[in-house]
This record gives sequence, structure tokens and C-alpha cells, in this order.
Amino acid sequence: MEVLTKKPQMTKKIIRKDIANKVLLIDPDKPSWVTVSKSMADILCKLDGNKTVEKIVEEANSNKNEDISNKLIAGFEKLYKLDIFMDDINCNDIQSDILSQVYFNLTKKCNLKCVYCYTRADINSNLIEKPLSFWLDNALQLKKINPQASICFTGGEALLFDGFWELAENIKNNNISLSLITNGTVAKVDDVHRFKSLFNKIKISLDSLNEDINAATRGIGSLKKTKKFIDALISIGVKPTIMVVVTKKNLKELNDFKRVYGNKVFMVYQPMYVMGRGIDNDILGLTASEYYDAIEMTKIDKMKEDKMKRNFKLMWCGMGRNVLSIESNGDVYPCHLLHHENFLLGNLNSEKIGDIWLKSPYRKYSVDNIEECCACEIKYFCGAPCRARAFYVNGSILAKDPMCPDFIKRSHIENMLKS
Ligand SMILES: C[S@@+](CC[C@H](N)C(=O)[O-])C[C@H]1O[C@@H](n2cnc3c(N)ncnc32)[C@H](O)[C@@H]1O
Ligand code: SF4
Ligand code: SF4
Repeated sequence: MEVLTKKPQMTKKIIRKDIANKVLLIDPDKPSWVTVSKSMADILCKLDGNKTVEKIVEEANSNKNEDISNKLIAGFEKLYKLDIFMDDINCNDIQSDILSQVYFNLTKKCNLKCVYCYTRADINSNLIEKPLSFWLDNALQLKKINPQASICFTGGEALLFDGFWELAENIKNNNISLSLITNGTVAKVDDVHRFKSLFNKIKISLDSLNEDINAATRGIGSLKKTKKFIDALISIGVKPTIMVVVTKKNLKELNDFKRVYGNKVFMVYQPMYVMGRGIDNDILGLTASEYYDAIEMTKIDKMKEDKMKRNFKLMWCGMGRNVLSIESNGDVYPCHLLHHENFLLGNLNSEKIGDIWLKSPYRKYSVDNIEECCACEIKYFCGAPCRARAFYVNGSILAKDPMCPDFIKRSHIENMLKS
């Protein structure tokens, strides 16, 4: 058996966490992790690359019990698959710094007036909007920077943009991946096939399936219209994403979505950010542990699986490293949640998106720049999430995300223990 001749070596930096009757071992640099029994952890922590698996098994099982030997050998085979040893040949991968997602905030106008809206969208917004030709031109430039990059229509309510369909069709005809975030209230049911053919992902915002609860944050009567759109999409085989902002109003009702829609929809939950109109309604916001408890009730994974890759260093939340956001007047920011004067990168009336991208200082930022995170044993799994939250709550994009540790670290460790 091939594994018997291998000489496993554990990094000297291995972090051992004894939790209940299990031990979580974390290699912070690879990064990788494994959950094992206490006796196995004692064996693994001593491995310095000098003994073969055959020898290790022999020493651990002096009575030569065949069952135990086979279990130990199978255990080592599994551990090699989990990339926990240093003698493993798999090379590490690192989050790229390629521009891969650009938010097109087509308009700041919106027919709703959600109480937490981070962009303070308003039907009377007088921000001068760029025309269809501007957006199309930038979409084509983006394709030259990265043919795989995707565009997300948002706002305000993108469907209120004059030329919405023509722009979407042109982007699609140029083979650029396109997604949409919408409140779903102005979409026409008759247009569902058009939505299906033009958008790779359709994300629809809704806070509750109960009219009173949804009305408290997203406005009276919006539920019925939004639900009609969701149901129409489902009826033609689309699996839309429902985006829920979790607040004090809806935290107890989150399970309703799963009960009603099962796996006909993707669910994305987001705690309310205290920004924009959210500042005026901060009383609705949750602490990290309140948010943890609310999400726990949904019985879905709190952290997306792709954030827990082995042998892959997640360096940054994406802000200005993989993401840009264009305001409806042409201003460019590193993130759709950071349309703030401190982060203005340029304006597309006078500059090209490629040049703005090249000068984005955030392309080289990483979790290692965050003082409170750089010594954290799971920093490369975590990648220092939401820089916008760090800025709005803790005053700097180089501060720790306020959802850590009670939501972020706790959830990551829990996911590690499960897998
Ligand atoms: C600004 S909206 C624009 C798109 C569209 N009007 C909609 O509501 O889906 C984009 C997303 O941000 C969410 N959002 C707005 N303000 C927020 C806040 N303060 N905290 C968390 N999410 C927020 C909305 O619910 C929506 O899912
Ligand atoms: S969250 Fe979306 S729907 Fe609500 S006010 Fe803001 S832009 Fe409009
Ligand atoms: S946010 Fe928390 S879990 Fe993530 S790297 Fe920073 S300290 Fe670690």
C-alpha cells in the first residue's frame, strides 16, 4: 500500500484545539485542518517526517491487532487527502487579484424606501444618470480586462433604468456573464422568459413571507409583488436567490423560506449593515451572537463552502481586489457597500475603467494588513470579511469585522469540526 512508505510530517505551527471529545488541528499556513480523536491527535502532533506510516502504525498498535492497523492505515490515507501533512505534494493556491465582478448601479432611484437601505435610494433621487451607451462601453472594456468577469445590475432599483432590457441584451450578446439584484416589485410576470435568458443569476430581496414583518423593513404591499415574481420564475424552471436582510423584525421567521420554497430557491442571509438609512434605524440591527442564533435556526451552513477550501489562501473580502462598483453617475468605488468619499477611485467620465482598476491600492491589501487578524490561526480561511462593516462600525477598513468572533470565527470553527 503506497501510504505505508510515506513519511508524514506535521508543521511545527500546528494549532491544537481540544473541543469536547474531539481535537481540531489547524495548519494556519497551508491552510488546512482536520478533526480527529485525542489519541490520533497525540500521534499526529509528534510526526516529524522521520518515520514511515508503517512504522507509526506498528508503534501505535503494539498488539498487532489487524483491525486497528487497518483503521490507522485508512486514517492516514484520509489525512493525506485532506492535505494536512507538510510532505504533501499539493501546491498552495492563493486568491487572485484579477477584476472579476463589477456592480453596475444603474440608478439611485427606487420605488421602495426600505428602512435600512445602505444607498439611501429614493424615487426622487436627482443624481445624474449615465445613459445606456456609457454602461455598454464599460461592459466591453471590462471584457478586455478579463473576459470571464461578470457584471451585476443593482442600484437603486435597476429595473427603473431607462434602457434596462436593451443593455442586458447587449451585454448578453457580448457573452458577458450578467446577474441582477432586484426588489422584484416592478418586474412583469410576462417578462420571466426574458429574465431567464439574459441573467445567469437573479437575486431577489425579501425579508419575510409574512406581510407585516416584511412591510416593517421593505414597505407595505411589497411582499405580494415580490413573491409573485419569485413564483413566476420558479414556474419556468429558474432557481432564483432570495436575499434576506436579517434584523430584529424577521430573525424569528427565517425558517419560513425553507418551509415554503424548499430547494426551489437559493437562500442568502445578510445581517443588516448599519449604513445609509440603516444608521437612522440602527435599533433594528443585531449583535454578532444574535445573528449567529438566528442563522443557527435555519440549519443551513453559516459560511459558504467555497470559503473553507484547503490549500487555498483567501486573502481579502474582494473589495478593490476582485471587485469594483460603478455609481449611476460614473463614480467608481472598490465595493458596492463602500460608496463613500474616502474610497472614491475615480470617475469614468474622465478615466478608463482599466486605468482606475490598475491604480486601485486595494488590489494588494490582505488579511495580513489587519492588525487584529494577522495572528489569527484561521485568517486564510476567513480572508477578513466585510471591510465595509469594519469601516462603518469600527472606523477603518483595516479594523476587524465586528461580526467576529461571535459569528465569523465561531461559524468557521464549527464548520471545521463538522467536516
Ligand atoms: C441596495 S439593494 C439594490 C437592489 C434592489 N433594489 C434590491 O433591493 O434588491 C441591494 C441589496 O442590499 C440589501 N441591503 C440594502 N441595505 C442594506 C443594509 N443596510 N444591510 C444589509 N443589506 C442591505 C438589499 O436588501 C438588497 O438585497
Ligand atoms: S434596498 Fe433596494 S428596494 Fe430597498 S430602498 Fe434600497 S434600493 Fe430600494
Ligand atoms: S475576522 Fe476573525 S476569524 Fe477572520 S481573520 Fe480576523 S480574527 Fe480571524
